[in-house]
Amino acid sequence: MNTLAGKHLVLGLSGGIACYKAAELCRALVKAGASVQVVMTEAAEHFMTAVTMQALSGRTVYTSQWDAREANNMAHINLSREADAIVVAPASADFLAKLLHGRADDLLSLMCLARPIESVPLLVAPAMNREMWANPATQRNVAQLKADGVHVLDVGQGDQACGETGDGRMLEAAEILEDLQAFFAPKLLAGKAVLVTAGPTYEAIDPVRGITNLSSGKMGFAIARAARQAGAEVTVIAGPVSLATPRGVRRIDVRSAQDMFNAVQAQVAQAQIFIATAAVADWRPDTQADQKIKKDGSGQTPQLAFIENPDILARVAQSERAQKGALFCVGFAAESHDLLAHATAKRLRKQVPLLVGNIGPSTFGQDDNALLLVDAKGATELPRASKQDLADDLMAEIARRL
Ligand code: C5P
Repeated sequence: MNTLAGKHLVLGLSGGIACYKAAELCRALVKAGASVQVVMTEAAEHFMTAVTMQALSGRTVYTSQWDAREANNMAHINLSREADAIVVAPASADFLAKLLHGRADDLLSLMCLARPIESVPLLVAPAMNREMWANPATQRNVAQLKADGVHVLDVGQGDQACGETGDGRMLEAAEILEDLQAFFAPKLLAGKAVLVTAGPTYEAIDPVRGITNLSSGKMGFAIARAARQAGAEVTVIAGPVSLATPRGVRRIDVRSAQDMFNAVQAQVAQAQIFIATAAVADWRPDTQADQKIKKDGSGQTPQLAFIENPDILARVAQSERAQKGALFCVGFAAESHDLLAHATAKRLRKQVPLLVGNIGPSTFGQDDNALLLVDAKGATELPRASKQDLADDLMAEIARRL
């Protein structure tokens, strides 16, 4: 969900080498349809020029509370009143300390203090050396700022400009963007834990060969992202896919249907919603050779026999919690034809309240899809759209049914 379209943000920069990431963030926010007013502290101007931020935001930058451009000379009031949120990125250790004490000796801190606290949220992306981050003073400040209602984003981990390695670097621009998107999304699933299966499974024949399918995992990952944006705690159990984990989502990688079944069994007790998007292999070879099966020149082909995999969704849906309504189960059906008839039959067979049908060959690997939602009352179409938009709509449909 692009929740940033039409939003007006004040992007504050305090002093730190991470200012270079603020340039990228500003560009990404504008690209997402937000308008951005940049405010920089004097220290920030040592790391980044106001000219760069003006060019990227398309607005002149404010750097001083004495800026005479505002007719009433109250930039701190005017700029904060028109904002949907103030985002300080980077937020230096010193800036956090200033916020904590309500100090207001430059435009940015003054504006944060003067903002209407109920209607203009303040988000900060800390950026500092690992020792500064770990220092009890900073940790105390962060805890108190959170208690004061400031949204303190996580810090990144890794190499730092100072040459040290550890916690404290600012998140990447794309990560902050994702957190901001999530921040503005309606929290339809707040307090819920959502478990999602995604991608194909891989059933080994020998150490180098196996049986799998064309599922890319994109729909399941889009659902995991949408559920997280809707405020849920999300775990995705993923078969072999090469997709980045959506931000804030816990990921468990598995390979075979049996692995996926075991992982689901271990996690499902904590969930209130289970969404099975994985294209689980129905069968696996009944034996798995320890060594590669070789051609012996005789022209004989290996004889494979199969056994059925556990039906993960059906087993979960028939559990006591699901039957009592404590766990809401959603299944998917990838069909090639007669979607309504197959989806309706599958919903009844698997005993799930909601079954989502889609046409497999026209969705596997694609970025878009069309869904048919089948429940006890009938069927609803979600017409072709991006998988992310459909995932957002599906979260709303699930929230409505809970
Ligand atoms: O029976 P079929 O594979 O068509 O059912 C599809 C639905 O069941 C999907 O939600 C899929 O994730 C789930 N499923 C499962 N375990 C299986 C087979 C399918 O969870 N072994």
